[in-house]
Amino acid sequence: MKRTHTCGQLTKNDIGKETTLCGWAHSRRDHGGLIFIDLRDRYGITQIVINLQGVGGEHCSPLHQIAESIRSEYVLAVRGKVEPRPAGTENKKITTGEIEVAVSELQIVNASKALPFEISEYVTISEDTRLENRFIDLRRPEIQQKLLLRHRVCKAARDFLDKKGFAEIETPVLTKSTPEGARDFLVPSRLSPGEFYALPQSPQLFKQILMISGFDKYFQIAKCFRDEDLRADRQPEFTQIDIEMSFTDEEEIFSVTEGMFKDIFKAGLGLDLKTPFPRLSYKEAVGRFGTDKPDMRFGMELADLTDDLKSAEFKIFKQAVEAGGIIKGLNASGCAGYSRPQIDNLTSFAAVYGAAGLAWFKVTKDGFDSPIAKFFNSDLQAVMRKKLSAKEGDLLLFVCGKPKIVNESLAQLRNLLGKELGLIKKNEFVFEWVTDFPLFKYNDEEKRWDCEHHPFTAPKEEDVSKLDKDPGSAGSRAYDLVVNGSEIASGSIRIHDPKLQKKIFEIIKMTEPEIEARFGFFIRALSYGAPPHGGIAPGLDRLIALMTDSESIRDVIAFPKTQKGACPLTGAPSDVPDKQLKELGIKKINEVPRH
Ligand code: AMO
Repeated sequence: MKRTHTCGQLTKNDIGKETTLCGWAHSRRDHGGLIFIDLRDRYGITQIVINLQGVGGEHCSPLHQIAESIRSEYVLAVRGKVEPRPAGTENKKITTGEIEVAVSELQIVNASKALPFEISEYVTISEDTRLENRFIDLRRPEIQQKLLLRHRVCKAARDFLDKKGFAEIETPVLTKSTPEGARDFLVPSRLSPGEFYALPQSPQLFKQILMISGFDKYFQIAKCFRDEDLRADRQPEFTQIDIEMSFTDEEEIFSVTEGMFKDIFKAGLGLDLKTPFPRLSYKEAVGRFGTDKPDMRFGMELADLTDDLKSAEFKIFKQAVEAGGIIKGLNASGCAGYSRPQIDNLTSFAAVYGAAGLAWFKVTKDGFDSPIAKFFNSDLQAVMRKKLSAKEGDLLLFVCGKPKIVNESLAQLRNLLGKELGLIKKNEFVFEWVTDFPLFKYNDEEKRWDCEHHPFTAPKEEDVSKLDKDPGSAGSRAYDLVVNGSEIASGSIRIHDPKLQKKIFEIIKMTEPEIEARFGFFIRALSYGAPPHGGIAPGLDRLIALMTDSESIRDVIAFPKTQKGACPLTGAPSDVPDKQLKELGIKKINEVPRH
């Protein structure tokens, strides 16, 4: 039986037609003389009815015997007539909800073993079990919709970039290490025993070489590999919409990216994004929100009260400022009613991010209510109220200490309160560009500078002269695109001068032989007429997770890895026969540390 329609296609306009459908038995309800089966495929669900009375009476027809033996997830082919559902039994929620198919012929195409879990029960099932049985888990309509949206997003990005003259060019997966700040995955070489390929952390160097070769506009929906500790928004292999262009600047890259996101949101969700996206500098983002990826769907901005409060009688603030620290606060508006345990919870939460304590003040009609209110005279209280736009009923929260800790803990507290207080609307996407990052950050452990972005990012032209004496003060031409507090894309204008490129490597304390061994080929490429160029790479998985309101990027990847980097479906990573290792010149030592 070859299907004539899909299970999501028939409506009341088809009533009276003969149809053949194929799909999976989603559910079966036995009503004596009538058996109802919800037949499911990628396109939807159609109710089919097997009327036992009409075809020779109960318990005797072959049709009946077939129908009785059907279990969940059997693959069926049915032929029958499209009929209206009896009045009162329609289901307005689905497009096929006003009809049913009265079956005249029924075939079990394939049986299914008893399921490890019912498709509809997935919420209560452990993720490991779901991933181990991913072939069943992927039958869930909601996950199918997410992957289909992912397809539409990729297509919209491809179509947009193609229209703008970008060429999709593949770059190698077996390659040399590219520095994006994570550990490399290594692949041993059989032909050069003892040597290794690295899987690319991104196509960064290749896309730059394509610019040097004159391709002008490149893109690739590229797999990237990073051996790092996994989180909800991180996978060891993930996908970027990788973009690079020549003779360009920040304005052009922002405009191409905004155009692409407009098409992506239109195609994926039918939404019209407003462009251009607002911009804020790194300094402003950290100042106002404590983070370079602020969630700007709500206010609750931080205020810096270091200068105002350092003179307070409160020792902890005083000592923190004397030690070079800062004092910042936020206004949890309307939270003066929080109980002590509630405030203690906020304190413990801030402590996770290093805050030594959380100073709090309830704003009441009689002034500040707090165990430490007495240390803040009425002038100081007035300044605190003013800087945080406080009114009666508000709860003011302060952290003091090292800027990194103060900003990080207050930023996290702000995100928590934004959610708890219901300040975040569903289905709202607030984009912002974060610009003017510093070029370097100091690595306290190794006592040297690290690149804030990656070593190929150009310094601001006016800061090149600072590189020798004061690299920490140099600004970069890097930018991030942030959506709802998540870093969705990152990029920069690149260095195209080989001498400057070498200088950056030297500042991050790479020795001449190291530079030559790791990036000699790239410096050589830069020496043969490299055009000015720049680019960006949106993370596709994070983008789809955001668009589908998924908690983890694992929900938008067909075959993801667990937190431990494993694939429960295939059992990867797994042991290999000694023979294979021998060919690669590898010998296992017994004490392999387990993480
Ligand atoms: P970056 O390392 O910032 O830049 O990565 C760009 C974007 O990729 C996504 N991303 C990830 N998504 C899932 N799992 C991960 N482990 C992961 N790591 C990163 C994020 C991030 O914004 N070559 C540069 C880009 C450039 O300069 O053009 C790069 O890879 O959304």
